[in-house]
Amino acid sequence: MESGGEVPAAWAGQVGEVLLGSAEIGARVTALGAELAAAYDGKNPVLLVVLKGSFIFAADLSRAVDTAHELHFIRARSYVGDVSSGEVDVSGLDGVSLDGRHVVVVEDIVDTGLTMAALMRRIEAMGAASVEAITLLQKETVRRRPETPPVRWVAFTIPDKFVVGYGLDFDQRLRHLPFVGVMRKP
Ligand code: XMP
Ligand code: MG
Repeated sequence: MESGGEVPAAWAGQVGEVLLGSAEIGARVTALGAELAAAYDGKNPVLLVVLKGSFIFAADLSRAVDTAHELHFIRARSYVGDVSSGEVDVSGLDGVSLDGRHVVVVEDIVDTGLTMAALMRRIEAMGAASVEAITLLQKETVRRRPETPPVRWVAFTIPDKFVVGYGLDFDQRLRHLPFVGVMRKP
């Protein structure tokens, strides 16, 4: 399915527009996998996958990184009701050693940047040798926080719209869509 292509009839009630088609996503993820493989060859990096939204991206990316690496899965929840505090609840890191490791945070989307900022601070504090980030999507938004760390690899920059598919959900639904689409406003 190409970008701007027709939304499959089954989902046309919920998705207004295909932003990124599956072929376009696949090509970009393959290219980024090669970039990661080159950057981390011989370093056995840890890909720290932020669930749930990144699960499809991470599965495709990992298979495109043709050098030894490990995968670890964490969860991060930002307190939407308390955005100004910048508080993000991270689980899955207890008892994990990242000391001296090269870590790549794998995110689905950077919006305000709160989640990424909190995650990278936390991982740096765990003694990682290096911390970089890769995200499938980065929104163009005036809400981006100034403390957002630089994200080394951005697969796609998208407009400030709520998107679903390829791992991203609306109310836990639509993660399975093979494309990234814009939610139709109810
Ligand atoms: P922040 O603001 O911390 O947001 O950068 C990151 C998290 O917010 C969620 N998010 C979205 N989820 N469609 C989604 O399905 C979207 O358009 C969207 N924008 C933000 C997501 O959980 C992400 O990790
Ligand atoms: Mg979500």
